[in-house]
Amino acid sequence: MVRPHKVKHFAPLNELAASREEFSVKVLELGGGSGANFPLVSSRGLDWTITEPNAAFAPYFRETVAAKGGKHRISELIEAVGEDLGQFEGDSFDAVIVTFVFCTVPDLAGCLREIRRVLRPGGKLYFHDHVGDRKGSFRRQVYIVELKIYQWFKL
Ligand SMILES: C[S@@+](CC[C@H](N)C(=O)[O-])C[C@H]1O[C@@H](n2cnc3c(N)ncnc32)[C@H](O)[C@@H]1O
Repeated sequence: MVRPHKVKHFAPLNELAASREEFSVKVLELGGGSGANFPLVSSRGLDWTITEPNAAFAPYFRETVAAKGGKHRISELIEAVGEDLGQFEGDSFDAVIVTFVFCTVPDLAGCLREIRRVLRPGGKLYFHDHVGDRKGSFRRQVYIVELKIYQWFKL
């Protein structure tokens, strides 16, 4: 359902990659899970570093890389939370991608500080997330049920 929105949203990355040497565009993804996003960028190869705090995703992530890694140079799934990106130097990425992660990050301000630190001047943050609709609307009820499910299953 969100795929077409993500493809459209990531389109500037295709343009950036087309204007640069292969693998010279450096992307950092936070909370990459099983690797939902790199198959949605079909450009010349990007250098794509992926972090994820939950190591249980690793086998699924590897499957996605093998099946849909495309032209990109994709890192192993690096264990890290978005609030602590200390293993990466400042000003080292052209883009940071964060999809459906901010809703679960306990220290959002800390995470944004880290993103700002690792992004090069002029670098871009691409994020997607769930937000609540107007009070009383059907979509807001769906959102509340979804949040409960996340809490019950500790997703
Ligand atoms: C709903 S999944 C989204 C996965 C993927 N980004 C996508 O769009 O399909 C939320 C992801 O955020 C990760 N996550 C949870 N807390 C995090 C944190 N503090 N920093 C980074 N990622 C976190 C979870 O492990 C999970 O992989």
